[in-house]
Amino acid sequence: MDQDFGGAIVALKKHGLETLPSLGIVLGSGLGPFADEAADAVAVAYSELPGFPVPSVEGHAGRLVVGAVEGKRVALFQGRGHYYECGDAGVMRVAIDTFKSLGGETLLLTNAAGGLNTEWRPPSLVAITDHINFSGANPLIGHPGADRFVPLTRAYDPDLIEMLHRAARTSNVELHEGVYMWFSGPSFETPAEIRAARTLGADLVGMSTVPEVILARRAGLRVAAVSVVTNYAAGLAGGDPSHDETQEYARLAADRFKSLLRAFIRSYEAKPS
Ligand code: HPA
Repeated sequence: MDQDFGGAIVALKKHGLETLPSLGIVLGSGLGPFADEAADAVAVAYSELPGFPVPSVEGHAGRLVVGAVEGKRVALFQGRGHYYECGDAGVMRVAIDTFKSLGGETLLLTNAAGGLNTEWRPPSLVAITDHINFSGANPLIGHPGADRFVPLTRAYDPDLIEMLHRAARTSNVELHEGVYMWFSGPSFETPAEIRAARTLGADLVGMSTVPEVILARRAGLRVAAVSVVTNYAAGLAGGDPSHDETQEYARLAADRFKSLLRAFIRSYEAKPS
């Protein structure tokens, strides 16, 4: 693994964070405020952590918040960097490698996505079971060493998916399952691209998450991911996505999404050390 996350580790230690919790959650659109619900929290701005992204998307704060939710210590990544912001698909690499090297074991990624299944009314929640990388980019391009050949056969951990479904039942939240297709953005897809995506087997389209999954699997983390469907994808059921619509529907789902996350956190157990 690369060592260029040393600066971030030093900075976290200055904040008293010698280790990080086993469970980390990347908070996507609409979920940022969840980090404010953590008790006894230590929050560090990404700008203080060398190599962490500085998000430019409104509503993405850019802080690592470590605190207790449901009595369990979790690492909440409040905001992410996107490929479309900087042209670097590895923009989350230092954040993910730092998490792993300080004790992280499991990364739960959340995002907003366009829905291809017209039965999923926005803002539905969907556990991602697999992905299609349609961006042409990969965060490991140019990386030396054999660990760049990351197997992605069970990238989305089946046990974690099962835990998500149990958490959904306990919190009385409907949770679908689907395949997420990564488009680079930042423009939304065309209706023709969405027809192609459907033909290829996608249920969701979005502009994040996939590079993080690849980086996290390379780091040896267990991965799960949940999308909130903020809109019908372009051309479907009148779908004509806009940034404002995605932000609005992500906010509408926030309470249900938070209940799901809380139930997941309650049932999560770190590996015995
Ligand atoms: N396309 C891509 N990304 C998205 C969408 C979409 O329709 N909705 C939310 N994020």
